[in-house]
Order: sequence, then structure tokens, then C-alpha cells
Amino acid sequence: MSLRPTYRAIGIDLGTSTIKLSCAGNLKKIPSIVGTPLQGWSGFSGDKSLEKNLVISDGEKSLYVGELARLQSEIKRAIASEGKVKSIEDAILAIKAVLALITKKDHDQIIMATGVPVASSKKEMTKLAKGLKGNLDLRIENEATGEKFHRKLTIKNCIVMPEPFGTYYHTLKTEGESRAVDAIVIDVGHGSTDILTLYEGRIMRQASGSLEEATDTLTHRIAQELQNQTGKIIRPFDLMTALSQQKDILTIQGEKWDIASMKEYHIEIIADVILDEVNRLIGTLPPDAIIEKVILCGGGMHIFGGRLRAGFEQAGLADHPEMLAMPEDPVMSNARGFEMFARTFVNGLGVDGYNEL
Ligand SMILES: Nc1ncnc2c1ncn2[C@@H]1O[C@H](COP(=O)(O)OP(=O)(O)OP(=O)(O)O)[C@@H](O)[C@H]1O
Ligand SMILES: [Mg+2]
Repeated sequence: MSLRPTYRAIGIDLGTSTIKLSCAGNLKKIPSIVGTPLQGWSGFSGDKSLEKNLVISDGEKSLYVGELARLQSEIKRAIASEGKVKSIEDAILAIKAVLALITKKDHDQIIMATGVPVASSKKEMTKLAKGLKGNLDLRIENEATGEKFHRKLTIKNCIVMPEPFGTYYHTLKTEGESRAVDAIVIDVGHGSTDILTLYEGRIMRQASGSLEEATDTLTHRIAQELQNQTGKIIRPFDLMTALSQQKDILTIQGEKWDIASMKEYHIEIIADVILDEVNRLIGTLPPDAIIEKVILCGGGMHIFGGRLRAGFEQAGLADHPEMLAMPEDPVMSNARGFEMFARTFVNGLGVDGYNEL
């Protein structure tokens, strides 16, 4: 048996609603939640896949991760919220758990690029990179089947960057652009909108930032308005599915409600807040800087995309249609881009390392 290491390039995007992972055509998306195990309960899941029944142990205690935590944990914690990674320890555990989903054997050598919300501090980013680098001993359990896995991996390199950089890199690569294009990337996610400006290949911190206004803002506003009109309690979370499926007619305790016009109204207000902030951030760039591309991504683009495009055209930021770019899958594009970025480091390993991807 050969113990020659296999180098794997992996891209991860740590979002407030889901963690996305991309590795050699394997795409994974799990809720960004960890939670305490439920004592005395196990094996009741209809879906027995590891992805839906993920438990990680750090040797002392166990933690539910992703869908299992979302559905079963009494006490659960979001890994990221208000545009920041909340607990580095939780983030490290969740990333380890998601790595277990795609590694099939011991002794894999991993080069990983991870995206975190733009508002995360340099200190937090360094802490995350340090916490992941080195030899990992993964102890994983499938809660539904009781199967236990023990896997040893080495994270040879871990690059932590602001989330939207993944989509920037993905866009340049898929368009065959070899030069660093001056661009602004707008990532409308669940809990925050992240804006990243790149000028002469460098991230411009002054002209980058994040906003609380995102998809979750829309669900909260519609829930509040429906509650005022119907007198019934509506949870913002329950509106998410209706929004994702573009459903405008809702049944609230037997009564039908059409949310089309209130949705349009709030989409317009939220999109305008995002456009204002983009304009303000661009205003901080040196006068000689010209933005060549406006790149749109994040799940929120399915909702706010049309309005934002129109706004950029009106503001003269996208005079030509080709100046506006949006990847085919705007939800996974950060993770895919980070995988491509990580792969450049794998190639850099030269003859020593071979790459099976
Ligand atoms: N096809 C779709 N149509 C409408 N809404 C969608 C669609 N796909 C995803 N969304 C919405 O987009 C949001 C998730 O987007 P995304 O995965 O980019 O967020 P995130 O990365 O988890 O959060 P953040 O970037 O704020 O940390 C959810 O609110 C979801 O309801
Ligand atoms: Mg995101």
C-alpha cells in the first residue's frame, strides 16, 4: 500500500446560512449551525446519510453539525452572524466536520482556501488559519447509523480570505482573464451583504465593507408586515422557502395572502440601501481608479439581482452589459473560486507532490 500523499485543493465559504465546500466537482452545502447532542436519542432519521447526521468529537465532547444540529439540537449556535464569524472554535469544528464528508482515506494532504465574512478582523482570520493548519485527527460519527470514523489529514496550507474574493477569482478564471481586473464584488448573502473592491490586484480595505441588509432583512420585514395585518405570529425563517421558490401566495392559518406587492416594495428599499453603500465605497477610491467590472454573487442575487443590475446601469457604473458579471451558480461561486485559488498552490508544489484532481 502506498502512503504517498495525495494533494487535494479544497475551497470553503463560511456563510451565515450555509457552509459551502468545493473539491474536484464535489459540492457540499450544510447549514452553518452547530449544536449540543440530544441525550438518549439516536437513529430516528429517515435520511441516514453522513451529511444529514454529522457528529464531531474533539476527544472530550461531541457536537452536532449542520442539518442534524438545525433539526435536533436543543441549544444551537450560528457559526457566523451579523457579518462576522462568531466563534472561531465552532468554525474550526464545523470545517473539520465538512472535510470529513469528502475525504475518503487517511494521509490526504490538503491545501485549503477559506472565505470568511468581510467584517471579520485580521486577527480572527489568522486565528482560523492557525487553528486549521497542521495535522488533524478527525473523529466523526454518523448519528443515524452509529458508525464511527477516525481520519488523519494534514492541512499543508490554509489561506483565509474575505468571502467575495472566491467569486472574483472564479470570474477571472472562467472568463480567461490573466490580468488582475479592477473590480467590485457584491455578495448578497443571508445575513449580510459583503462588498469587496480590488484595485491593481489588491484588496482595498477602505472601499470594502459589509451591510446588515441582505435576504434575512427581507424575510424579517415581510414577516413583521404580515403580522401587523393578520395578527398572527409569522416567523421570518418560515418565509425563506416561499421566497426561494418565488411563491407569492401564502396560506396563513387558512387564509390566503398575496405578498407580491409588499415583497416588491421591500426589495426596492433594500436594494437601494445596497446601491448607496456601493456608491459610497467607490467614492473612497483614488480618483484615477476606474472600476472595470461589477461582479454579483450570493443567494440574494436570485431576489435582488434584477433591481441591483438596473441600479448599476442607471448610476453609470456598468455602461456596457459585459461590465456586469454574475456566475452561473452565484451561491457556490465563492467556494468554487477558492478551490481554483487553492489549486494554484498545489501546482506550485512541483514534482514532489502529485495531484489526483
Ligand atoms: N434560488 C433562490 N431563490 C431565492 N432565494 C434564494 C435562492 N437560493 C438561495 N436563496 C436565498 O439566499 C440566501 C442564502 O444565500 P447565501 O448562501 O449566499 O448566504 P450565506 O453565504 O449563507 O450568508 P452570508 O453571505 O450573509 O454569510 C438565503 O436567504 C436563501 O433563502
Ligand atoms: Mg455568503
